[in-house]
Amino acid sequence: MAKTLTTTAGAPYASNETSKTAGPRGPVLLEDYQLIEKLAHQNRERIPERVVHAKGWGAHGTFTVTHDITKYTRAKIFGEIGKKTEVLARWSTVAGESGAADTERDVRGFSLKFYTEEGNWDMVGNNTPIFFVRDAYKFPDFIRTQKRHPKTNMRSPEAMFDFWAGQPESVHQVTILMSDRGIPKSPFHQNGYGSHTFSLWNDQGERFWVKFHFRNHQGHEHFTNEEAEKIIGSTREQYQEHLYNELEAGRFPKWTLFIQVMNEEDAAKQDFNPFDLTKVWPHGDFPLIEVGELEINRNAENYFQMVENAAFSPSNVVPGIGFSPDKMLQARVWSYADAHRYRLGTHYEMLPANAAKQSEVQHYHKDGSMRFFSNDFGNPDAYYEPNQWDGPVADPSVMEPPLRIDPEAYRYPQEVTDDDFVQPRKLYAEVLSDDERKRLHQNMAGAMAPCSDSVKERWLAVLERVHPDYARGVREAAESQPAIPVTDNTPVQAAE
Ligand code: NDP
Ligand code: HEM
Repeated sequence: MAKTLTTTAGAPYASNETSKTAGPRGPVLLEDYQLIEKLAHQNRERIPERVVHAKGWGAHGTFTVTHDITKYTRAKIFGEIGKKTEVLARWSTVAGESGAADTERDVRGFSLKFYTEEGNWDMVGNNTPIFFVRDAYKFPDFIRTQKRHPKTNMRSPEAMFDFWAGQPESVHQVTILMSDRGIPKSPFHQNGYGSHTFSLWNDQGERFWVKFHFRNHQGHEHFTNEEAEKIIGSTREQYQEHLYNELEAGRFPKWTLFIQVMNEEDAAKQDFNPFDLTKVWPHGDFPLIEVGELEINRNAENYFQMVENAAFSPSNVVPGIGFSPDKMLQARVWSYADAHRYRLGTHYEMLPANAAKQSEVQHYHKDGSMRFFSNDFGNPDAYYEPNQWDGPVADPSVMEPPLRIDPEAYRYPQEVTDDDFVQPRKLYAEVLSDDERKRLHQNMAGAMAPCSDSVKERWLAVLERVHPDYARGVREAAESQPAIPVTDNTPVQAAE
């Protein structure tokens, strides 16, 4: 027999279909609380979407250690070969709203929450090893160029290429975005990169700089622009369909986690800044070291509860894993929790997606809106620290080793130098095949087609600094494509 429908206070409903009215033709009585409650809840069903990475797809999985890296880190998640840790994953596009089509050309977010016995460790990365900018000051401006124009309310290629032309260090990431990897066939057909330099530290108090790479087992598969357009014409949810159906069918995607490691002393000797998010660490100099395997194997039972409510943050590290001087990472460390308090509420950490599963949460933060849980440790007197009630105390054994830093505080200018073009040049000239280069030229020419001539020329001058063939290839592709009116999605007052 079906259970009885009740109000949120547990009282049984007499009807879920008919309003309480004065006479059969109405009006409705104000005392029909059930109706008011139902409509009021509907009004509150949406929460603010993520300010970036709003469209996403998520699922549960398992991480298994396959190789010993205890000489680099004391983190218990890596404590022994065979050790398994539960994981929540979310992939996303960056710019689109929560209803955006899945197969749009964009960087993909690659977020993982590892529920370790020492607390949650989040890796909030992308499917690219680098980023468009290297100083957090530029992040909000960059994101605005990806979102809608305030007047036209449309995406603005003029703004995108204007910004990139003014920040030539972005060319490395723009090259990947416009390459085949700009539209992966599914979240499973892409790698994940921690992107920033992080740190590992071991029981002896030694610190190592590190990059995280999750290489996929499914192969890199991509859609061309034309294929993606066709798919969007028939379904906007291609990734969600693929993800959901594959997992329900028992076909579980996998990634191998590798790290690249750099000693603290070696960091000073590199001819590039190893903390610059627009640069990779060349594999030849810093080989990939295998660590373990990530398998995604279970759909969320409730998408809103586990995926929309998920709060990933680079600030979530555990003993043995730490940050680095990377300026962008430093800003991200505080920005995400701030966003979560706004998007989800003060106690977002205790929502099912975010609550630690393998470690006890014990802190002295009190009360506040939606304090729906207790952590009073069984003693209501122990609500401050220090106290005589045996309340929780800090553990100095998990103190990170000290870090020597430059004592001169200053706003150091980030000039663009020839160094900024070395790695994109290698990608363009040595990694991409002739066919991949051709598609890169066409994709980029198509993306900048609606821009003004002045923006196009400024961007082509950036490509010229990478490689003359790059600029020439994009120019020729642009000339062979049909002209698009500049005003389509360009503000009229754009500089000529
Ligand atoms: P390698 O030849 O060892 O590495 C080349 C890398 O390029 C591989 O990791 C490959 O990824 C990746 N790659 C292939 N096609 C594309 C594409 N369309 N978009 C982005 N990446 C692609 O040389 P280096 O390590 O010296 O790197 C050379 C250049 O490759 C770098 O300057 C950088 O632009 C790019 N790159 C480097 C990475 C790194 O961490 N060193 C990571 C990704 C890109 P995979 O093997 O996973 O298929
Ligand atoms: C999401 C800020 C750079 C990857 C977000 C969110 C904010 C944010 C506020 C929304 C969080 C939420 O509501 O849950 C910033 C700032 C950056 C920055 C200030 C630079 C200073 C980056 C970089 C990467 C990245 C460099 C990747 C290497 C992601 C991902 C998400 C995200 C994957 C989605 C997380 C999820 O799946 O819920 N970012 N970001 N961001 N960001 Fe960033």
